[in-house]
Amino acid sequence: MNPVSLAASFKDQYHHTPMIVRAPGRINLIGEHTDYNNGFVMPAAIDKHFLFAVAANNTNQFNIQAVDLHETISFSLDELKAGHHWSNYLMGVIDGMARRGKKIEGVDVLFTSNIPAGAGLSSSAALCSGFGFALNELFRYNLSRLELALIAQESEHRFVGAQVGIMDMYASLFSRTGSVMLLDCRSYTHEYLPFQFGNFELLLVDTKVKHSLASSAYNNRRQACEEGVKIIKQNRPEVQSLRDVDETVLQIFKPSMTEEVFRRCNYVVKEIDRTRQAAHHLKKNDLTAVGKLMYETHRGLSSEYEVSCPESDWVVTTARETGVTGARQMGGGFGGCVLCLLSISVKNIFIEKVKAKYFAQFEKEPDFYSIELSEGVALV
Ligand code: GLA
Repeated sequence: MNPVSLAASFKDQYHHTPMIVRAPGRINLIGEHTDYNNGFVMPAAIDKHFLFAVAANNTNQFNIQAVDLHETISFSLDELKAGHHWSNYLMGVIDGMARRGKKIEGVDVLFTSNIPAGAGLSSSAALCSGFGFALNELFRYNLSRLELALIAQESEHRFVGAQVGIMDMYASLFSRTGSVMLLDCRSYTHEYLPFQFGNFELLLVDTKVKHSLASSAYNNRRQACEEGVKIIKQNRPEVQSLRDVDETVLQIFKPSMTEEVFRRCNYVVKEIDRTRQAAHHLKKNDLTAVGKLMYETHRGLSSEYEVSCPESDWVVTTARETGVTGARQMGGGFGGCVLCLLSISVKNIFIEKVKAKYFAQFEKEPDFYSIELSEGVALV
């Protein structure tokens, strides 16, 4: 559904003119599971997004319709509750605004999305960021984009139970066309790195293995990192997060950690370093070097952080065998999309090879999305 037809449907139903907001999903070139460790990530918004049609309704009711799902929910401020439905994410955003002292007023909303859910493209962050942005514009709350990102993150923590980092909502809100960003998740500052594609492309292979960040596995990984920091802190009180640790320091504390906690921390410390290195290579437009790091990341995700799955591992191995420059599972893990950096000459051969063999192996049809790096949340 495009903005014009969404606005037309809204007018048909509510008889007034809505504001239209676009909120994109994101990719992350490198820097996985580093955001909640105060490290670096390298995300960018993509040309897949939510569209919201929103207008104040001068009541205290929120009437929200998910057009694609044919679902409508109505609730008021005193009915906000936690859960795993899309409406709980939006309730969390409203709650975040109320807790910041904003005067909450009712709205009518229609929304639609072409971001596949559970594919590691941050549909939930886009949902929260776009809705927050719309309320902020509509009621002139004067919240900054950073505050909107924090509200979106809090919504996932408090209302959905997913202890996610800041990357996804920050990327949805701050991205710029044609660039990835090097985001410092400790200072909440970023630098845009223009991505000069030349003969290269970014391609997503959707494994169709759905993941959920509200699952205990994601939160467990976070706990393992916190456990590692706690152990190091006993002797080095200045250490606040794995961002403050390097491989040498980690080795010193290895004997005090369980083998699993060490392995998780070791992955994160190396991934923060890889992300710094990738930024360096990207500035020199050395995409081959970036691709090598992506493969290293996948190896770490698979064998050290253990958030991969047979389908993602298979796609990455096939990519390597076919001459794809870089490939790795992207996002929270346990499925979703594999991000591939590849030269245009290899693209069709790779796609055909995956198509020919994936179904026989996993009894699922993969999807392929060519990606453009897009602007963050905006009024349409
Ligand atoms: C999900 C979370 C992010 C981040 C990634 C892993 O996308 O929402 O905060 O932790 O997983 O890098």
